[in-house]
Amino acid sequence: MTREGGDPNRPGRRDALARLREAEASRRSAGLHRSLHPRSPRHDGLLDLASNDYLGLSRDARLIEGAVNAARHWGAGATGSRLVSGTTALHAALETALADFTGAPAALVFSSGYLANLAAVTALAAALSAGSGARADRYSSSQLSASKRSSTEPPANASVLIVSDAANHASLIDACRLAKARVAVTPHRDVAAVQEALARRSEQSAIVVTDAVFSVSGALAPIAELHGVARGHGALLLVDEAHAFGVVGRGGRGAVYAAGLAAEPDIVRTITLSKAIAGQGGAVLGAPEVIQTLVDTARSFIFDTGLAPASVGAALAGLDVLITSPELACMARERARQIASIVSGLGLRSSRPDAAIVSTTLGTPEAAVTARSTCAAHGIRVACFRPPSVPSGGSCLRLAARPNLTDADLEAVGRGLAAVHAQRPRA
Ligand SMILES: Cc1ncc(COP(=O)(O)O)c(C=O)c1O
Repeated sequence: MTREGGDPNRPGRRDALARLREAEASRRSAGLHRSLHPRSPRHDGLLDLASNDYLGLSRDARLIEGAVNAARHWGAGATGSRLVSGTTALHAALETALADFTGAPAALVFSSGYLANLAAVTALAAALSAGSGARADRYSSSQLSASKRSSTEPPANASVLIVSDAANHASLIDACRLAKARVAVTPHRDVAAVQEALARRSEQSAIVVTDAVFSVSGALAPIAELHGVARGHGALLLVDEAHAFGVVGRGGRGAVYAAGLAAEPDIVRTITLSKAIAGQGGAVLGAPEVIQTLVDTARSFIFDTGLAPASVGAALAGLDVLITSPELACMARERARQIASIVSGLGLRSSRPDAAIVSTTLGTPEAAVTARSTCAAHGIRVACFRPPSVPSGGSCLRLAARPNLTDADLEAVGRGLAAVHAQRPRA
C-alpha cells in the first residue's frame, strides 16, 4: 500500500512513470523523439536558417538597448496582470505604435503570440454567443460554473461556428478547442470549402480563422477571397500574421495590409513580436469593440502577467527599425525566392516562397532528421518538422531567409542541400 492508501498493483494503477517511459519508447521507435540541445550565443559558427529571426534583428544593438533601457526604467517584470498592477506608458506606446504601423484601429499587447491567439478566438467566440442571447455567466471564471455543466450538453458557445484551415498553427488549433464552439476544419487554402461551411451552418455567428503565412510551408493565405466570403456570410475573419508581420506587405505591414484590408472592421489580426522583430510577446489588432471584449473577458489577458518591460522596449525599437528601414521586408522575401530556386534547381520539392520561409518535403521523420544532420555537417542549421507539427508523410526541412544573407551564405546553402539531394533514395 502507498502512503495515500492506494494499491499500486491494482489493474489500471500501474506506475505512472513506467507508462511515460513506454510512451517515450514508442515515440522513439516512430522517429518522433525530440531533444533539447545547447547552443552558443552565435549558433556554434553554423549559418542559422532555423530561427524565425526573419530580419536578422535578434542581436541588433538598437533592440538590445531598447530592452535594457526599458528594464532600467520600469523594472524586470510587469509585476502582475495589467488590470491589477496597472498598465505602463510603455505598453500603451507600443499598442499605439503597432496600430499606427499596421493601419489597425487599435491594438492590445499580450505576453506571447500564443496567448494572443487563445484570447482572440476564445473571447470572440464567447462574446458572439453571448450577443445572440446566451447567459452572461458564460464569462464566469469560476470552476463552479464549469463543474455544473454536464458532459452531454451542447458546446457552451453553441451559436458560433469556427471555420479553421487544416494547416493552421497549433496555437489557433488549441484556441479553437478552448472556444467551446463547433469547429469546421476546412482543407488547406480552400475558399470554396470555407464558403460551404459558412453557408450550411445552423449557428447564428461565425469566425473564419487562418494563418496569414502558413508556418511550415510559408504559403500565403487567400486573404482577400476569405474576407469576401466571410463578409458575405456575416462572419468575422481572424488572421494570424505571425509569419507575415515584418516581412509581407509594404515595409512589413503584413498580409491584411497588403490586401488593402487593414481598416476593415470585420477583420481581427494577431501578431507575434518574437519573429521578424526578434523579441518576445504578441498582440491582437482590431476594432475598439474587439479590444474591449478582450480586456473584459480574455482569460489569457486577465490572468496573465503583462509583457515584461524589456520585451516591450525591444519591440518598440524593432518597430522603429521597420519604419526607418522599409527595404528589409522586401530583401527578406527576395532572399527566400533565391533559396527556393536553389531548392528546386537541385530537384528537391520547394514550397511557395511568399514570405521568408522555404520548406522542402522529405517524407519520413527519419529522412528529415538525417537531412538536418547533413546540412549541419555542411555548416548550415535548418529546422526539421515532423508529425505532429506536420501531417504524416510531410516531414520536411524549413529554411528561413533574412536580408543579411550573403551570396557566400547562399552558396553554402546550395552545397548543403546538394548533399541532402545526393542522399535521397533514387525512385
Ligand atoms: C503562426 C504562429 N502563430 C502564433 C505563434 C506563437 O507565437 P509566440 O511564439 O509569440 O507565442 C507562432 C509561433 O511559433 C506561429 O508560428
